[in-house]
Amino acid sequence: MRKGFLAVGTVGLLALGSLTACGDDSGGDQAGSDKTPKIGVILPDSKSSVRWETADRKFLEEAFKAANVDYDIQNAQGDKTQFQTIADQMITSGVTALMIVNLDSGTGKAVLDKAKSQGVATIDYDRLTLGGSAEYYVSFDNEAVGKLQGEGLVKCLTDQKVEKPVVAYLNGSPTDNNATLFKNGYDSVLKPKFDANEYVKGPDQDVPDWDNAQAATIFEQMLTQTSGKIDGVLSANDGLGNAAISVLKKNKLNGKVPVTGQDADPQALQNILAGDQCMTVYKAVKQEADAAAELAIALAKGERKETGQTVKDPEGGRDVPAVLLTPQAIYKENVKDVIADGYVTKEQVCTGDFAALCTEAGIS
Ligand code: BGC
Repeated sequence: MRKGFLAVGTVGLLALGSLTACGDDSGGDQAGSDKTPKIGVILPDSKSSVRWETADRKFLEEAFKAANVDYDIQNAQGDKTQFQTIADQMITSGVTALMIVNLDSGTGKAVLDKAKSQGVATIDYDRLTLGGSAEYYVSFDNEAVGKLQGEGLVKCLTDQKVEKPVVAYLNGSPTDNNATLFKNGYDSVLKPKFDANEYVKGPDQDVPDWDNAQAATIFEQMLTQTSGKIDGVLSANDGLGNAAISVLKKNKLNGKVPVTGQDADPQALQNILAGDQCMTVYKAVKQEADAAAELAIALAKGERKETGQTVKDPEGGRDVPAVLLTPQAIYKENVKDVIADGYVTKEQVCTGDFAALCTEAGIS
């Protein structure tokens, strides 16, 4: 498995290695070469997933420092007004490139358009801003993420040997285009099962802003509404998954009902080792941060690079130059690979009672 990670990493590096400089400075949004390059980054929040502060910030900082480029990374803490204020301040302070993880496409588009009008180049980081104007989109193949979740749930339900399992969906935020892509991915696996009457489609709900507390309430209602008859939970990320698991625990159903996730959070890895979570999807955020930093540094200097790939913006109809990285499914057997890749540490996962489970899972 370690090999698998290296392979993914190599593909990422090759893809980046093949980014070539190109002289296209049309569009009027090139950073002036007389300005000192400076990169602004706006992260979305620190609650919907721990990744933003613990992984994205860290890896972006490392990449900017290594390139010796000036930067400013801020977090909008889920507040759309604050998001716009931060963007305005960054533009005024003279950033030459701006990278955003939008809170929704509407405010994201306003920020991107404003930056563009001020000659600041932009990147959509992780989430595509629909109808937006970013020069680049850097993310993972998000439909592939959803497909791994769907396949993961099928694998775990097969292991549970439940006849005609009822599957509930806890989807991500309806304002996050990624949530739509994840759902397309897991639907592509699960819908044929519903259609063939092998599985039963249970409650299907979006969780506004990926809010973990609301997810617990929503899942509690789902259980009540089905009189406890939920056999599997397709949860779109680890935070939502953990919310479902906390409700299952209260009902003494944890471990009996497989739950999926995404992000390979330390807590999710513990849930997997304990048998309470079926799987998660690991996205090597370092690759994403490195790719975005490389493009941002070029843009900040008024240069362009070819990514060799585009993504169609379904709203604006634009083909956005993109870097899309490969996600990886994580089960109990390969939790160790996330640790070996340096994404989380053994100390974070193997605390207290988890020490023995770690040894069992080959984490040394
Ligand atoms: C990201 C996920 C994250 C979620 C909530 C999505 O856009 O791709 O990694 O868990 O947002 O922050």
